[in-house]
Amino acid sequence: MDKKVAIVTGGGSGIGQAISERLIRNGMHVVIADINQANIDATLAKFNADGENATGYRLDITQRDAVLAFAASVNEKFGHIDVLINNAGITRYTPFYEADDSAWDPVVNLDLKAVFYCSQAVARYMVAQKGGKIVNISSSLGTGTSPHHTAGSPGGSAAYASAKAGVIQLTKTLARELGPDNINVNCIAPGFFLTPMTGATRSPEQVADHIRARTEMAVLKRPGNLKELAGVVSFLCSEDSDFVTGHTIHVDGGRSDRM
Ligand code: NAI
Repeated sequence: MDKKVAIVTGGGSGIGQAISERLIRNGMHVVIADINQANIDATLAKFNADGENATGYRLDITQRDAVLAFAASVNEKFGHIDVLINNAGITRYTPFYEADDSAWDPVVNLDLKAVFYCSQAVARYMVAQKGGKIVNISSSLGTGTSPHHTAGSPGGSAAYASAKAGVIQLTKTLARELGPDNINVNCIAPGFFLTPMTGATRSPEQVADHIRARTEMAVLKRPGNLKELAGVVSFLCSEDSDFVTGHTIHVDGGRSDRM
């Protein structure tokens, strides 16, 4: 395929869908890897209305063998993989003293370990072709902390914050290791963006409280627009950022709770 090929994990919803839309607009073919078939179908219907802009794969990225087979089949089908966006993630808010393995493991397995699986699976092809861009999606909580119970978050976020902090350090480490093969690895730490994730663990009242608290926290005094996030990812996938690697860009409206 002549077009550049970008894999977006979790591309069937929210932030991943917005990034996919922007990369298609930039002329790339997007491969959406998502566990939710309904999300994939709805997204492909939207993106492919005017041509073959995107392909969908139902994939649970926490399954190592499935991820390896997926990357191999994308490389075989298109001949190259130019961009990987490690975006899929979940939140589970559990008070720290109540958190057991069943609260901790699913979050860390998806939000951190699967970034390792996907990056490793794709990097072998990028190394062989001597080039590529990897963008990881962390969070404001990868470096900061947030009040809970009072901010529409029904519990603590130790697992999520730990995983997202790990993603920032994984970004730096991979950038160093893959740099000699002309692969850029960068990270985005989003602040608050209204997506299906926002309501996944909250009641409608808590969502309203969350929006109010996050709006107050940002110096720009508003939630982010998904296009504003996708634009920064687009920069990190373009030749304009060829000399940028190992960085985390906070796209958060100037959140004041960084620590
Ligand atoms: P979302 O819930 O709207 O979308 C997540 C997507 O990931 C869904 O399509 C879901 O099916 C997919 N997914 C879940 N588990 C998967 C698995 N095991 N394998 C493959 N796909 C899977 O979430 P949203 O808000 O778009 O979040 C995207 C990323 O941005 C996440 O990593 C999240 O932590 C991060 N983020 C989001 C913020 C926000 O305000 N929405 C703030 C900071 C970070």
